[in-house]
Amino acid sequence: MKHLIDPTDLTVEETQEIIDLALDIIANRAKYSEKCKGKKLATLFYEPSTRTRLSFTAAMMELGGNVLGFADAASSSVSKGETVRDTVRVVENFADIIAMRHFLEGAQLAATEVSRVPIINAGDGSHAHPTQTLTDLLTITRELGRLDNLTIGFCGDLRFGRTVHSLIKALSRQKGIKIVLIAPPQLRLPDYIKQDVCDRLGLEYKEVDTLEEAMPELDVLYMTRVQKERFLDEDEYEAVKDSFVLDSEKMKLAKEKMAVLHPLPRVNEILEEVDSDPRAAYFRQVENGKFVRMALISSLLDWKDDPNHQMPKQEEVEVPGHLRCENKKCITRNEKSPRRAYKAPDGSLRCRYCDHKFK
Ligand code: NCD
Repeated sequence: MKHLIDPTDLTVEETQEIIDLALDIIANRAKYSEKCKGKKLATLFYEPSTRTRLSFTAAMMELGGNVLGFADAASSSVSKGETVRDTVRVVENFADIIAMRHFLEGAQLAATEVSRVPIINAGDGSHAHPTQTLTDLLTITRELGRLDNLTIGFCGDLRFGRTVHSLIKALSRQKGIKIVLIAPPQLRLPDYIKQDVCDRLGLEYKEVDTLEEAMPELDVLYMTRVQKERFLDEDEYEAVKDSFVLDSEKMKLAKEKMAVLHPLPRVNEILEEVDSDPRAAYFRQVENGKFVRMALISSLLDWKDDPNHQMPKQEEVEVPGHLRCENKKCITRNEKSPRRAYKAPDGSLRCRYCDHKFK
């Protein structure tokens, strides 16, 4: 069985297969209108969402399937203290596939340990967001015609932005990718991505201080929101919230053929005056999200009993003594879980659920 918890759970070939299927769905909508007839998707959303949840719902409806679930943890048994693993053991009796968003990092990986149906990670804390990544890859393909040999700028909240983390991981498997990181010092990309993804896999990256500096060389500009809800300190948020704002003046510095992406919601990091620029791809990106989720749901259901589509084998090492994951937002710090670790390139032990270190 195949789950999608991290973008690298899909091989490069499987990722391409899903993008190609999404392109075919776009070209032949009617052909897929009963593809998932009689199947049910459960959407378990423990954290706010508009487009991700609605896009999963719309995707399943367009495939002829049905959807059930909750959009608010307060209205589910979680409020009575039920664990993620138990909730999944219950819901798998009602649904053929589950899409879950959770504020705890690694919650969906924990779910896969007990689930008899495919689990899709629709965002776990600040950690990963692989279906947004598929959306981004489809959008780049449709806007620029390729996924390799691109210079991609990431701007805004690179620390808490799970969409950024997952997209960088996925791009590290393409040829000729250069990334330019544009963020205030407090919101720089976490070390585990710099070391494990960029350094280890040889992904070329540089950090610059202004958008102006980066603009002329970019094929894609990936803007993100500064995520107020992830800050523990309001003053810290206030200090950085307006750090980088994209406007028409800055767009003049960009290539004629480039694409501005944003996972949305935007707050004020892209002025509305940019929306009418043909390079502003963020609302087209939303529609791509629905198509790619149609392709994903139908592929995971098709692959369910296929031995050629299994989860990748991950090397794990034993965790000595009383070490525990340092991340307070990790599922292992909040619900009873085994301690699972892998060895990072620098020799440290990292948590399989959230990629933070043990200490
Ligand atoms: C993003 C998310 O939830 O991580 N939105 C989305 O899924 N489209 C980005 C964000 O909330 O800023």
